[in-house]
Amino acid sequence: MSAKKVSAAKSADEQKKEAALEALKLVKPGMSLGLGTGSTANHFIRALGEKVKEGLEVRGVPTSRATAELAKELGIPLTTLGDHPFLDLCVDGADEFDDKLRLIKGGGGALLIEKIVATSAKEVVIITDESKRVKTLGKFPLPIEIVNMGIKATAWKLERAFRMLGMNPKMVLRMKDGQAFRTDMGNVIVDAACDEIKEPERLEFMLNNIPGVVNNGLFIGIASRVIMATSKGTQEITAT
Ligand code: 5RP
Repeated sequence: MSAKKVSAAKSADEQKKEAALEALKLVKPGMSLGLGTGSTANHFIRALGEKVKEGLEVRGVPTSRATAELAKELGIPLTTLGDHPFLDLCVDGADEFDDKLRLIKGGGGALLIEKIVATSAKEVVIITDESKRVKTLGKFPLPIEIVNMGIKATAWKLERAFRMLGMNPKMVLRMKDGQAFRTDMGNVIVDAACDEIKEPERLEFMLNNIPGVVNNGLFIGIASRVIMATSKGTQEITAT
């Protein structure tokens, strides 16, 4: 019998943590940081909390209530965009990214604040496991945050916008505990299962131009780099 040692593949969660630890190396004393939302961002926040305990002085702007709670528990000083409108670095996860560093975000429902915070940062670093890298965006249903008033009318306008770009996604109102999921801003989310997103730039613009749409989960031209962990280590990807 051969005694060949097989190293166990890293789980997605282990990869997320590895990417988070790599991103932590970019944090310098005195920085104002955007703190993302989700399981990958949580790894970053926990590791940052350790550094803060050791004496690192930074401040963070959270992208969700959940992130604010976690950061507070860990003793990370928090601030707001009101007090610090220009951030040095934002670290967040993503649901999908492609070679042009176009992202789908919002799986955790925090897309609006994530986009406001990310676009206020000099550098936006996305941390992921390898499952998030795609050739074409769209396997992950695109989250669209809309105002609750007039949902049906907005949904019809969404359908029309998708059709204009040759898509006919199944759209589902996101639910939680038997009720429409509400974002931290009190809005609802429609998830559009596109399979393949055609012309992401045009789609992002067209969706955001519909009255009733607050924002959508396409993040284009925002990420400066992706730190992706793989079973063979971390890889840094910049836009091609
Ligand atoms: C939350 C997000 C998250 O970044 C995204 O859903 C990835 O989550 P995870 O790190 O748990 O895989 O956009 O709104």
